[in-house]
Amino acid sequence: MKKKLIYINTFGCQQNEADSETLLGIAEKRGYEATPHMEEADLILFNTCAVREHAELKALSTTGQLKHLKEKKKSLKIGVCGCMVQQEHRKEDIKQKYPYVDFVFGTNKIADFDRILSEVEKAKKRLFFVESYEENPGRIVEGLPVSRRYPYRAYVSIMSGCNNFCTYCIVPYVRGRERSRAPEAVYAEVEGLVKAGCREITLLGQNVNSYGKDLAEPYPFPRLLRRLCEIEGDFVIKFMTSHPKDATRELIDVMAASPKCERHFHLPLQSGSDGILKRMNRRYRFEDYYALVEYMKEKIPGISLTTDLIVGFPGETEEDFEATLEAMRRCRFDGVFSFVYSPRKGTPAAEYPDRVPDEVTKDRMARLLALQQTVQTENNARLLGKTLRCLCEGPSKTDAAFLSARTDGGRLVHFPIPENPPREGDFVHLKMSEARAIMLIGEFVS
Ligand code: SAH
Ligand code: SF4
Ligand code: F3S
Repeated sequence: MKKKLIYINTFGCQQNEADSETLLGIAEKRGYEATPHMEEADLILFNTCAVREHAELKALSTTGQLKHLKEKKKSLKIGVCGCMVQQEHRKEDIKQKYPYVDFVFGTNKIADFDRILSEVEKAKKRLFFVESYEENPGRIVEGLPVSRRYPYRAYVSIMSGCNNFCTYCIVPYVRGRERSRAPEAVYAEVEGLVKAGCREITLLGQNVNSYGKDLAEPYPFPRLLRRLCEIEGDFVIKFMTSHPKDATRELIDVMAASPKCERHFHLPLQSGSDGILKRMNRRYRFEDYYALVEYMKEKIPGISLTTDLIVGFPGETEEDFEATLEAMRRCRFDGVFSFVYSPRKGTPAAEYPDRVPDEVTKDRMARLLALQQTVQTENNARLLGKTLRCLCEGPSKTDAAFLSARTDGGRLVHFPIPENPPREGDFVHLKMSEARAIMLIGEFVS
């Protein structure tokens, strides 16, 4: 019998990517096969994000485009899941305005996907499996099948949820409280991946630094990382994300001691102004953050540091914004993910007065990006002449004569295709020959 085809479109962060790999794993076990072509699918699933309005609008408008597919193929099943529909008002939007969506389920129902599919296959009516985290706190289920996208690169979720309630952020509402996986389960999964030839493992959690605090026997993240680094094999471990209030010197010491830890730290600062940080409920001051940055730069020379910044948080004055620019000059980030503040329904900041007007936010964003471009080009220029070990990612997306690779710190390097080209997932040595803001050009050495 011909297998049913499933198409999954994932919006949002790596956590969602990892969830989609589990959803696909479960579907494959039920006899579905993945297709990259939405038009030929028997089942289309959108795994959505709610972190900013833009993410939601994108998911909703893409869902809107499915109407004509459903009209052409009545047997097509359409599902929407993930963070966006975990919000009551968005679930209602789907119910009322998108009648061709057959089923909806929230982030605490991933482990139930097999049962959901069996109901959906039989159902004559639309099905909504959405419960708040108060009704269903979610549980960690081990041993679910996972269908990974790449053989050499894997996401390993070590915990779910978030307890921090930064005042702008929807994540704690749509992902529930922190729940850690057992360290043995994480270890076994990573070991299995390495044995199967995986070269890059990314440990995922909204705040990996609070990993293990909720376990019956608390198990701190630095300890987990140290243990995973002891696994034999040629691989690199990354992790994200770290909250500055919980990232410790001990963690940096573990990274410094193990060549298996990526020389990269993603440490979201959000703002350089202590007043704004306080109103964001971030629970650190810029100087605390900077002390940690200095420590990691001293302990791990050449470490690549990246961050997230929010522009136009309610009440952000010119002085507050200048503090963010000054923070960027001092920290010399190697990459910045900058976001315009987006009010999220149900979060405290959405009720704050003193919204920053759009023109002001736009102007600030442009200034931030210009400064970052200068800093990044200067940072990359410091690598000129150096030979670095990089992980080959295959053909460059922008130039057919080049391959692309990432340095140990996650920097993008393009290099001309050599005579015996390396394969995707191979480690290569590249000599840095040209520095640009978003990438370096390298020469193939070995
Ligand atoms: N748990 C991670 C990631 C959260 S979402 C962390 O704490 O860093 C990723 C980024 O989106 C955040 O770091 C923040 O910069 C941004 N973000 C979250 N909510 C936002 C909002 N309402 N408006 C604009 N940016 C937001
Ligand atoms: Fe959101 Fe803050 Fe939690 Fe990150 S730490 S997910 S920004 S509430
Ligand atoms: Fe978006 Fe949910 Fe991730 S809101 S950023 S997909 S945790």
